[in-house]
Amino acid sequence: MTDNLIDSILNTVICGDSWSTSKTLPSNFIQTIITSPPYFGHREYTATSKISSDLEFGREKDPHEYVTKLVTLFDELKRVLKYDGTVWLNLGDTYRNNQLLGIPWRVALALQDAGWFLRSEIIWHKPNAMPSSVKNRPTTAHETIFLLAKSAQYYYNADAIREPHVTFTSKSKMRGGRNHLGKRGSTPEQGKNKNNPNLHDGRWDQAFHPLGRNKRTVWEIPLGKFRQAHFAVFPPALVEICILAGSKIGDVVLDPFMGSGTTAWVAKKLNRHFVGLELVPEYVEMTMRRVQSPVMLPMFE
Ligand SMILES: C[S@@+](CC[C@H](N)C(=O)[O-])C[C@H]1O[C@@H](n2cnc3c(N)ncnc32)[C@H](O)[C@@H]1O
Repeated sequence: MTDNLIDSILNTVICGDSWSTSKTLPSNFIQTIITSPPYFGHREYTATSKISSDLEFGREKDPHEYVTKLVTLFDELKRVLKYDGTVWLNLGDTYRNNQLLGIPWRVALALQDAGWFLRSEIIWHKPNAMPSSVKNRPTTAHETIFLLAKSAQYYYNADAIREPHVTFTSKSKMRGGRNHLGKRGSTPEQGKNKNNPNLHDGRWDQAFHPLGRNKRTVWEIPLGKFRQAHFAVFPPALVEICILAGSKIGDVVLDPFMGSGTTAWVAKKLNRHFVGLELVPEYVEMTMRRVQSPVMLPMFE
């Protein structure tokens, strides 16, 4: 029965309020969740639709209500996540009455209190962030992505998302650099540093791993642009990192605020399945058009 249910919802978007629709999902079948909920007090997504804005998330009266509501949804999402599953949660902040509200960290700490393992704070640096007219503080050019896990032992493929070494490359002239690339297990220094415990395999991996160094917590990725959506969408490159690190081929990826469907589109491209939840029917259609289109890339600018 559960298998039939899973088959029937794979690669679809369920239209409705995520707090209700998430309750209809089977348990323990999602490997990773990648999502960007509406930010507190920002945009109205139902403005051009017949859907009541009362159901829309992000329009709560204060940050406390916003955080509490999100934690309630995540309680339900924890049930659908596999034991070794993860969440990549993208959040932006809000200014009110001259105060930065610190929404991302309010949410992160509340989720931690609710039993989630908070594993990483990633800064998504947007080099093409909107200019602003503020003169009494720096212009915001980043958002936050939290990596959360359901349990302490979770699936994370570090090798799939390594980045180029900065210190040592195959062209390095530094002693202890070029000669040790690709030679894990050898003692890097035979001279005065021989048997130096600081040069154990972990250090070798950091400096010389042939696939590159471990992914860092600052990701510089320009904002995405999808011509048909009139709101900020995920850059596909950002979703790609999360999917590669958080899942294997054939796994199921969930986005409970699917919007224009970037998570679905990238999941399909990387041979994963997707399940989406989305309140606005027009966006559900947009996602399905986007993933069914035989020509995917030219849809981006
Ligand atoms: C920031 S957008 C997501 C954009 C998406 N990451 C993309 O790349 O297109 C947030 C989405 O959440 C949806 N949403 C708002 N309230 C919701 C609710 N109660 N249940 C489900 N979806 C909701 C909005 O309609 C909007 O499409």
